[in-house]
Amino acid sequence: MKTKIIIDTDPGVDDALAIVMAFNSPELEVLGLTTVFGNVSVEQAATNALSLVELSGVDVPVYKGEAVPVSRTPAPYADFVHGDDGFGNINWPAPKGKLQDQDAVSFIIEQVRKYPGEVTLIPLGPLTNIARALEQAPDIAEKVKEVVLMGGATYVPGNVTPVAEANIIGDPHAADKVMTAKWPLVMIGLDVTSKVLLTHEAMDRIAGSNTEQCKFLKKASDFYIEFYRQTVGISGCMVHDPSCIAYVLDPSLFKTQSGRLRVVTEGITMGQTTFAPGTRKYAYPGWEDLPMQKVCLEVDGDRLLAMLEKRLTTPLH
Ligand code: BDR
Ligand code: CA
Repeated sequence: MKTKIIIDTDPGVDDALAIVMAFNSPELEVLGLTTVFGNVSVEQAATNALSLVELSGVDVPVYKGEAVPVSRTPAPYADFVHGDDGFGNINWPAPKGKLQDQDAVSFIIEQVRKYPGEVTLIPLGPLTNIARALEQAPDIAEKVKEVVLMGGATYVPGNVTPVAEANIIGDPHAADKVMTAKWPLVMIGLDVTSKVLLTHEAMDRIAGSNTEQCKFLKKASDFYIEFYRQTVGISGCMVHDPSCIAYVLDPSLFKTQSGRLRVVTEGITMGQTTFAPGTRKYAYPGWEDLPMQKVCLEVDGDRLLAMLEKRLTTPLH
């Protein structure tokens, strides 16, 4: 049986890589793409999601979600990483497809209730839609199969402040709600995603397969790879969001540790993910009743990259 997934996303170049990877994976049934602000506005995210559906020739519905965080003042969009359009400023033509009338949050609730124990949520942006869904329908916590999210940093520095990762600081209140909910959650953060680099050479090889998807991904990723070269000083882009799809397809690519998670919601360390490994009891209370979640700490990068390349270059349609 295929794994039913909902990808909650703010495309975004690495979101695009993840979405195409998922569309090309016969093991997955993508119930829908739900969109959120983050790398771009939620309107642009929804347009980009429709473009990816059209480009891939799949019949996957797209839902517009939340435009602003639950509580914090919205941060500027990450145009310096993903371009103004989220696709590296490539002037991609507007998609012909239409958004669903239903909103993202109610779609998530509806699908989780419709398929209890079967739906994996894959959030690749700020966690606002997921937190709103939990707030409106707390029963979904016991009905979701798993939440596999990209975000956070435990034993490594952040990427937008010394301690915060972009998706988590984008809506820290939402992230804290999602990470402390009593549902099975896997956090795939910078501890692993910053260790896997997709190089220009690999991207050229992928483009060489000449599918419409790969030609698009090559164009879109040039700007993103250039950002990493100029700002981070590395040759290649980090494979953040596709890591979640890889985990769902083959969790043996990762080593995880169980423990409790919280997110700092204000102050200079806003957006920091705090991880209490294992079941240790602390002198200061507050951690003992939190659910045990999984955090990815190691990854087989070569195997992940080989899987990514294979999936991107092998369309199903
Ligand atoms: C995350 O932030 C966004 O820029 C990427 O799409 C990814 O989801 C990495 O910190
Ligand atoms: Ca993203």
